[in-house]
Amino acid sequence: MSLFRTKDIDAMLAQRHVAALKKVLGPVDLVLMGIGAIIGTGIFVLTGTGALTAGPALTVSFVIAALACGFAALCYAEFASAIPVSGSIYTYSYATLGEIVAWMIGWDLLLEYGLATSAVSVGWSGYFQSLMAGFGMKLPAALTAAPGSVPGVHTVLNLPACLIMLAITWVVSYGVRESARVNNLMVAVKIGVVLLFIAVGVWHVQPANWQPFAPFGFTGIFNAAALVFFAFIGFDAVTSAAEEVRNPRRDLPIGIIGSLAVCTVLYVVVAAIMTGIVPFAKFAGVDHPVSLALQFAGQNWVAGFVDLGAILGMTTVILVMTYGQTRVIFAMSRDGLLPERLSSVHPVHATPYFATWTVGLVFAAIAAFVPLNVLAELINIGTLAAFTLISVAVLVLRKTRPDLPRAFRCPGVPVVPLLSIGFCLFLMAHLQALTWAAFLVWLALGLVIYFAYARRNAVLHGGA
Ligand code: ALA
Repeated sequence: MSLFRTKDIDAMLAQRHVAALKKVLGPVDLVLMGIGAIIGTGIFVLTGTGALTAGPALTVSFVIAALACGFAALCYAEFASAIPVSGSIYTYSYATLGEIVAWMIGWDLLLEYGLATSAVSVGWSGYFQSLMAGFGMKLPAALTAAPGSVPGVHTVLNLPACLIMLAITWVVSYGVRESARVNNLMVAVKIGVVLLFIAVGVWHVQPANWQPFAPFGFTGIFNAAALVFFAFIGFDAVTSAAEEVRNPRRDLPIGIIGSLAVCTVLYVVVAAIMTGIVPFAKFAGVDHPVSLALQFAGQNWVAGFVDLGAILGMTTVILVMTYGQTRVIFAMSRDGLLPERLSSVHPVHATPYFATWTVGLVFAAIAAFVPLNVLAELINIGTLAAFTLISVAVLVLRKTRPDLPRAFRCPGVPVVPLLSIGFCLFLMAHLQALTWAAFLVWLALGLVIYFAYARRNAVLHGGA
């Protein structure tokens, strides 16, 4: 039964007070951090494929994906307010479902955040190069993409993707206050650009483009929902800041639910306008659908702004995801499941700098050398699995620790967590078989490492 040993919640809360991380973040920082992680490749790149899959009913796909996230967000918020400790769902599972589940979910989060940072860096590189090309600047072809990712072109590495990943790593290792400042500024620009798209685009909508509304029926709508789910990923990273928040019990739920609500409204409106301007079939093979819609409407200079906003938007996604990942690794290392070095904190900057640079170098290399264009689904499945587990964990914690103070309580228990589980499993069922296979291989590898290393070195095992 030691596989399912749990950490004592009261001891974890005590640990929070002596933690070396600085407590500097407030509610506005957290909402902006959530938006920073959410709005990025999903809306700026994947909506084109989404529109091809669902037609104008892409708006409905966004609502379905938002519901799945919304129910899970309520569960996250309850945990974040009850156990405001670093490590997000990894930590919550360690307190409720047991060590092996916690390890697997931590392992799963490494996949989610790690691949998300690399994949978004590659998307960033694409937009950046097209912006530079607008000024007549071109990189040698060999430096534009990972080997084998462009048919017929000899490419060696994706230099811009690698450099942005390293630059972000530097910011994150420098300090959380500084990271939040950089993030807040870029998020403000990114929201401004989305609002600009809405304000300009709405005058160019031709309602005839919304007919037929759902050319591929429910199947198209559900498949697109499973894909654009990617656009919402990130609000969960807010919880990983728990130990750096001044008033976490109140502010974490505000950050999680606030950022998700803002982005849902923006996404549905953007999807409606995009498919209203451009007949959806014209999105085939397009990797900048939002600015394409503006070009289609003859608004080329606004399209340029949107490209710039997309670049900043993706920058903050990389920033917050990198940040989230380092905090999960920090927590896993502190528990002995990963080597101890990974939880050492910098004496001046008070950040887990060793974990940060490890993550930064590994995923910069992956962004540079691995063709990543098709990873969105793998990231989705990892995240959906995490959302399913957090919903199970809320039900378990209500039974095992009904007395634990919760500043925020998930409404409608058990219906809301059950709906969350149902929606997530439903979306997972709409992902491709190949995605499932890759996910299961990753989990199997995780199990091997658990039995070979983590289990024996766990603090709970007395190994550290
Ligand atoms: N939600 C993030 C994005 O769309 C991952 O880029």
